[in-house]
Amino acid sequence: MNAITLDSTHDDKISLNEVVLPPLKPDEVRIAIHAAALNHRDEWCRQGKYPNIKDGVVLGSDGAGVVEEVGAEVDKSWLGQEVLVNPALEWGEEQKAQSKNFRILGMPDHGTIAEYLHIPVDNIYNKPNHLNIYQAAALPLAGLTAYRALFYHAKVSKGAKVLVTGFGGGVAQFAAQFAIAAQADTYVSSGDPSKLYKAKEIGAKAGFDYKDPNWTREALALSGGFDIIIDSAMGETLDNLLHVAKPGGKIVFFGATLGNPSGLNVRKVFWSQVTLQGTTMGSDQDFEDMLAFTNHHKITPIIDAEFPIQEAAKAFDRMKAGAQMGKIVIKIR
Ligand SMILES: NC(=O)c1ccc[n+]([C@@H]2O[C@H](COP(=O)([O-])OP(=O)(O)OC[C@H]3O[C@@H](n4cnc5c(N)ncnc54)[C@H](OP(=O)(O)O)[C@@H]3O)[C@@H](O)[C@H]2O)c1
Repeated sequence: MNAITLDSTHDDKISLNEVVLPPLKPDEVRIAIHAAALNHRDEWCRQGKYPNIKDGVVLGSDGAGVVEEVGAEVDKSWLGQEVLVNPALEWGEEQKAQSKNFRILGMPDHGTIAEYLHIPVDNIYNKPNHLNIYQAAALPLAGLTAYRALFYHAKVSKGAKVLVTGFGGGVAQFAAQFAIAAQADTYVSSGDPSKLYKAKEIGAKAGFDYKDPNWTREALALSGGFDIIIDSAMGETLDNLLHVAKPGGKIVFFGATLGNPSGLNVRKVFWSQVTLQGTTMGSDQDFEDMLAFTNHHKITPIIDAEFPIQEAAKAFDRMKAGAQMGKIVIKIR
């Protein structure tokens, strides 16, 4: 089958290759993938900045398609069903953290930017009816991460003041959409005024340009401070986030795109009784809850652009440049 694999010898560091999948295991299904979607993780892998990466592995954590074959132990009623994939492999039984066997689909296991995927049946779910297969492909990893951050960790509720930073990001757009659907007072930040405009179109109360040195003043004046902040930039921005968090507020972060903060104002943390909460993807229960919420509120992923598999390198370049507003989809069929 054709697939996009990591290829450190190629100028693009990825290439379209012929890959042979190992035989289908008894608990697995074979999915004819119709669409995959990118996450920043795929770009980190391409740049060699992800642990334990190896050439030849098919990239991609997000995908949707049609079940074409089932393993000996799998219910045959899955055949022909349109499904999306939960890319959190072997999370384990605990809700509070993943097991030591936890892996993210798409490195080291073969991922979704391919004509076919073999994956345990426990990791597939019926496609929401209100989404087409390309929109469905955009949901899994980012939707799961946003859902756990907001609902499991931050326990968002109606009227809570929520700030989602970097609205243009894949996870951030879902965090904002979910918070708005939960009737929280939702604010966003972005480095791009057109993305702030988009956020207001979908129901955000206001948006702040994080490149403006006065954004925290504006944010405090408009919101009075935030009960919940969802962030993946970190770096030196943490100090600003502590400044706009309400006393007793919670900063939930799932990434560090800007690296580690050089220092932490611990006094601000303990005096304001602020919680710094890390989060990573989510459990099987979080995935089921996220899908139920998405179905109930008819949440539709914001698609930034679609690329054919032959132009996957252009899709990765777009993510690297941070030009996207929403999810970048790779069409396979
Ligand atoms: N732990 C996990 O489970 C998990 C899951 C998913 C992602 N991640 C990590 O989280 C990060 C984001 O992932 P993603 O896939 O959502 O990436 P993405 O779609 O590439 O989004 C990155 C966004 O970061 C925002 N940003 C850049 N500088 C910023 C700043 N100074 N302040 C606030 N926001 C800033 C930008 O927003 P604007 O375009 O609006 O300016 C950009 O669109 C990556 O580091 C990724 O590895 C972790």
